[in-house]
Amino acid sequence: MNSSFVILVGLAELAGLAGMGLTITWMIKYLGGFGWDGFAKQFNVHPLMMTVGMIFINGNALMLYRVTLSLNLPRIIVKFCHLGLQLLAAGCGSIGLAAVFGYHKNIGASDLYSFHSWVGLTTFIMFGIQLLFGFLFFILFFFLLPRSENLRGRFLPIHVFFGKMILILATITTCMGIQEKAMFAMADKYKDIPVQALIAHAAGISFTIFTFIVMYIMSNDSYKAQSRRDGYHLQANST
Ligand code: HEM
Repeated sequence: MNSSFVILVGLAELAGLAGMGLTITWMIKYLGGFGWDGFAKQFNVHPLMMTVGMIFINGNALMLYRVTLSLNLPRIIVKFCHLGLQLLAAGCGSIGLAAVFGYHKNIGASDLYSFHSWVGLTTFIMFGIQLLFGFLFFILFFFLLPRSENLRGRFLPIHVFFGKMILILATITTCMGIQEKAMFAMADKYKDIPVQALIAHAAGISFTIFTFIVMYIMSNDSYKAQSRRDGYHLQANST
């Protein structure tokens, strides 16, 4: 395996883990920890589950083809692992959304009042549609309509494009959510740049670095060529 590829994947994982670690630190040390109490603890489940699912697991699902196919794993197994990771991401995202909608209901707050929530819900719906179409084209059609190779081949670039865009949108949503929560949580102290703000900003920057590296890996032709050499074809008959 190409050594710069291994280093980049390692750096992406470090950035993603740092983002989650910083989010957990922020929630536990400053915002009361996690729980399902209808109040602050339940809200805190939202940022954690959304970032674990929509950024970390989703980003790893995108990189999976390049990571595992260069290890010569059979494509069908990788395809099911990709689906499994995306289902896990959808599960985490659903828990994260249930946490924040439940919290809003419990405290009597309006739903969907912020720009963050609009972009976030749109991103989540796009993720759901992407999952559904991916399942239809690459699993159902693959098994039930084996002669649909051309159709699957033509859909693949669309699937890849939306996959990348959804990860970028999830990262933008997260940065907006962090900003919004930081303003709520620190109110008039925010302008003094307290440690809590530094932790929150560092979490956003870590997730941004994670996505930046994942996008670089996904757009670098030499990593694609490496994967292709070992059996990864963006051709109709392998999709
Ligand atoms: C991909 C990641 C995320 C998505 C898709 C997302 C989505 C959403 C949605 C749809 C709502 C509206 C809930 C309602 O109206 O009842 C919401 C609320 C909220 N989210 Fe997120 N969120 C994400 C990450 C985060 C993160 C990391 C934070 C930061 C700590 C955050 C902070 C908030 C806050 C403060 C609210 C309540 C106020 C509001 O409705 O904007 N979110 N989020």
